[in-house]
Amino acid sequence: SKRLSGRDLCSIADLTVEEMAALMELAHAVKANPEDFRHALDARQMVMFFEKASLRTRLTFETAINTLGGNAIFVDQTQSPLGERESLSDMAHNIERWMAIMVLRTYAHDTITEIAACSKIPVINALSDLEHPCQAIADFFTLEERFGSAEGLHFTYVGDGNNVCHSLMLTAAQLGAHCTVATPKGFAPKLEIIHKAIEIAETTGGSITLMHDPVKAVTGADAVYTDVCTSMGFEHEATKRAPIFKPYQVNEGLMAHAQADAVFMHCLPAHRNAEVTDAVLDGPQSLVFDQAENRMHAQKAILLMLLGGAKRTTNSRNR
Ligand code: CP
Ligand code: NVA
Repeated sequence: SKRLSGRDLCSIADLTVEEMAALMELAHAVKANPEDFRHALDARQMVMFFEKASLRTRLTFETAINTLGGNAIFVDQTQSPLGERESLSDMAHNIERWMAIMVLRTYAHDTITEIAACSKIPVINALSDLEHPCQAIADFFTLEERFGSAEGLHFTYVGDGNNVCHSLMLTAAQLGAHCTVATPKGFAPKLEIIHKAIEIAETTGGSITLMHDPVKAVTGADAVYTDVCTSMGFEHEATKRAPIFKPYQVNEGLMAHAQADAVFMHCLPAHRNAEVTDAVLDGPQSLVFDQAENRMHAQKAILLMLLGGAKRTTNSRNR
């Protein structure tokens, strides 16, 4: 019978607040005792189709499935977009006969939701133009490690209201954090994401605040996050964007407005000394390599949850 739609991870909003909490708990368990999960996904096959470059996402997904007993097959789609050689639905109806799960990195978010809608196996968004859910899950996992909990945490994102920003807003809302986003005018997050995040935050005691002033946004923050101002696929706008984003650079001067024990975060890859200075990126407050490591642990939890291989899971809605 047809897979229930909640078993895909196209958006953070595919998870309920309870499922997000369970996923975080599972990620902590997996990181603490990886051997307990060594055969949890024995012989399960995971296929990855990537239309864009990747270091972290590809290697952490492959490592995650391999160390759970499964296997990864990587298909480079950088030279031919999905849907070009055959229809997305024909593609999906082939893949579901062989594979247990599909991981997609695309330009258009609709490519992912369309494949998810017609395939019987779970689909994971490994970055689209709209969201980067696996990143945000790993990042808030990293914050939980550092601060004990994300609830009530003052989380500030400075820069482009992009895919990473969208998933961070939704995750912050689900975990009851206070999320402030400062972007230049014209680069705010998408309205549909803002509305969804506010709606979720109202149920968790979190909050979403949007502004244009980076100093005001960072003042009192526990965590300061930024990403490139020119994402993959927007390279032609790089020259136009550089001066607009200059006041949003995370440097020691801006970090001085945050809490004394504030952390700095970035999904990487960074454009060094553009959106963040070397001093901050390589400084004592930087969590960037912990974030990168945690991509692997968090994605193990995601795979376990979506494939039902978890020892403990509360993903009951999807049974
Ligand atoms: N942060 C992240 O997704 O990195 P990659 O683009 O290298 O996968
Ligand atoms: N916002 C960036 C994230 C890369 C991991 C991009 O989409 O290129």
